[in-house]
Amino acid sequence: MKMKAVVAHELNRFAVEEVTLDPPKAGEVLVKMKATGVCHSDLSVINGTIPVPFPMVLGHEGAGIVEAVGEGVTNVRSGDHVTLSFVPNCGDCFHCLRGEAYLCLRSNPDGKMMDGTTRVHLNGEDINVMQFLGNMAEYAVVPAICLVKIPDDIDLKAAALVGCGVTTGVGAALKTAEVKPGSTVAVFGAGGVGLSIIQGARIAGAARIFAVDLSDEKLAIAGELGATDLINAGNDPLKQILALTDGIGVDYGFEAIGIPAVVDQAQKATRRGGTMTVVGVGKLSQKLELNALMFPLTAKTFKGSMYGSAEFRVDFPKYLELYRQGKLDLDRMVTHTYRIDEAPQAFADLEAGKNARGVIVYD
Ligand code: CU
Ligand code: ZN
Repeated sequence: MKMKAVVAHELNRFAVEEVTLDPPKAGEVLVKMKATGVCHSDLSVINGTIPVPFPMVLGHEGAGIVEAVGEGVTNVRSGDHVTLSFVPNCGDCFHCLRGEAYLCLRSNPDGKMMDGTTRVHLNGEDINVMQFLGNMAEYAVVPAICLVKIPDDIDLKAAALVGCGVTTGVGAALKTAEVKPGSTVAVFGAGGVGLSIIQGARIAGAARIFAVDLSDEKLAIAGELGATDLINAGNDPLKQILALTDGIGVDYGFEAIGIPAVVDQAQKATRRGGTMTVVGVGKLSQKLELNALMFPLTAKTFKGSMYGSAEFRVDFPKYLELYRQGKLDLDRMVTHTYRIDEAPQAFADLEAGKNARGVIVYD
């Protein structure tokens, strides 16, 4: 079939194209997209921070309705509402067997489907898809092990966010760091992921949540979503947090941007014996530094958080139930919706830091 898709052709050049999509093969599902989140990782593909084989259909955060299933697919059927996961859960590999589906060994960034071929084509050329999904498009053919059925009454924009940013952030607080009730938390970066960490910390019962960002606009949203202290990063945030915690620092530090100097600030804002969790993704060429003397002496835990430590088939429905109960505010996080033809504007707004989350919606 013919459809519109946002295709990254080469470094810093992408366009909305009319492409051809093949039907789903065995173990694959055709999804009519209803909502696609515009995530920083899509931008990182465009600008080369995340190296990928071009050309590639962007999109890795989305929700939609199953249109057709390929041979052997049993977990969903036509008409089901689904949220996509950019990491598969094969159920059989070393990590899936140990409850670490976020590290599933079937994950593969080569842009091909599980069988090594592609379903998207443009002028006779094969087009790759981002992380098995490539759902910044009207339709997507994805592996059945990359989606989960969700309740029909959930807003599909909210359901889309759970596919990447929300799960990454909420899970970092609840599952990676395991924030305890009554604790103190500092979150550096109040974009889609940082705001989700703040919500996760609030759900966990944190007593005090410091939000740190350069944008007062984003800090205001952070305040609405549970942050108790709003710290503008332009004004020595480390000094401010230490001053507000009697020089001790917080129990849990988080970095949600991917800048080594900010990880360093967050780590220093974390108290002795506390837990520092790195969620933001930097460049392959960059390094994080720990002081060889102080790291053991301060007894800190330093953690990396991948996809919020998600077991997505369990966690997506769980987070959407928290949304339904009003405990996880996903509506406030969608600050702008776009048509697929407006994708260039969506990325311009993302780069300008205008959105908590921009979402592309389809008919
Ligand atoms: Cu993402
Ligand atoms: Zn696996």
